[in-house]
Amino acid sequence: MSKDIFQVYPLIDKKKKGQRLTDKEIKWFIQSYTDKKIEDYQMSAMLMAMFIQGMDVSETAALTDAMLESGEQLKFTGKNVIDKHSTGGIGDKASFILAPIASAAGVKVPMIAGRGLGHTGGTVDKIEAIKGFNTALDLKVFQEKLNKEGLVLIGQTPDIAPADRLIYALRDVTATIDSIPLITASIMSKKLAEGANGIVFDIKCGTGAFMRTTKDARVLGKSLIATSKRFKKKAVALITDMNQPLGNAVGHSNEIIESIETLKGKGPKDITDLSIALAAHMIHLAGVEKTFDKALKKAHLMVDSGKALEEFRKLLKSQGGDDRVIDDYSLLPQATEVTKVTAAKAGYIKMFQNDQIGLLLIELGGGRKSKADKIDHAVGFNFEKKIGDKVKKGETIFVIHHHAQQKEIAEKIKSTFLKEVLVMSASKVKTPKLIIEKLS
Ligand code: URA
Repeated sequence: MSKDIFQVYPLIDKKKKGQRLTDKEIKWFIQSYTDKKIEDYQMSAMLMAMFIQGMDVSETAALTDAMLESGEQLKFTGKNVIDKHSTGGIGDKASFILAPIASAAGVKVPMIAGRGLGHTGGTVDKIEAIKGFNTALDLKVFQEKLNKEGLVLIGQTPDIAPADRLIYALRDVTATIDSIPLITASIMSKKLAEGANGIVFDIKCGTGAFMRTTKDARVLGKSLIATSKRFKKKAVALITDMNQPLGNAVGHSNEIIESIETLKGKGPKDITDLSIALAAHMIHLAGVEKTFDKALKKAHLMVDSGKALEEFRKLLKSQGGDDRVIDDYSLLPQATEVTKVTAAKAGYIKMFQNDQIGLLLIELGGGRKSKADKIDHAVGFNFEKKIGDKVKKGETIFVIHHHAQQKEIAEKIKSTFLKEVLVMSASKVKTPKLIIEKLS
């Protein structure tokens, strides 16, 4: 505990008036809150003051540091320990593809991933569609596995940045989630604790992302990179499109199948291109290849040679998962019924209200309405058409995979999709650019 003594009220008042808080003040506040010496309502007031007044780079770094120091911090030797962080979206299964690619190329990948949040899906929930896969390894085992296998994937543990866990729960109910400095400190405290030497950020932007505009995504990307630099970590951020699902599959088993298909070189173009680009940045940051072009070639080679797929198999085996799913998708939980949504008229797909797709998946049981809910890995969606595609009258656009007893809910999803998610155009529509910008 910091020896400096401050008082809660004047610090909230100072931030409320838009004045800078010192490192010591921020660290005292966060430590005192974690030690339960500051009440939730006082922390809420401070969070709202931070949200409204904003925080500069050094305040954000102090907040990151305070949250980081509230828990355990892993350390790895060597420059080649690199992770990726996505700010979350719909159909984002890139971790399952890029991590084995990077690992096969010689990068060590320590992934501590999240569960579904709001309308977005979670990497940990998705991999748990594979029977036996253990995402709850303790940090000692996590460290040992990373050193031995070069790739490990677990969920958040109570030992990593516990202050963030407490503050995040408060932000979730006090309308203080969408603040750039608060998001930065929350993400960075967890990423730094996990011990990576470099981080590749995938900043999602569009109707299915927390950042709706390129401008906001750029501000978040710059903030994450500036904070990484302050902590002497190498970092690159890609701003990527999230106005439609990534790939064609949405849902847990569905997305695992699409990830395996992509590792076999048969995935949709968008998820393939993005996973390879992100993996190439990891390979480059790790210093495995001197130029990004060489790293990109290497990433392609890892897929084409089947090495990345074998690395995924190794990951499943190492964490108790049934690796037979790679050759037999029927071993994954699967829904038996399909309801198709077809085009009422000919035209072009103009846009999807992408966050709604995540909410419809929750409605179908493929997400949580409350913390204790169990995820149904079997249900999901498949997109047969994406933005810019030409559609004939009666052609299938969207397929709902559901259980026999869910016919009524599938019909409701169909009608919501047509009314609130899908926008068609009579004239040609340009395919959105997948990788919008790179920040480094
Ligand atoms: N993800 C996080 O870990 N924290 C945030 O604040 C937002 C997204």
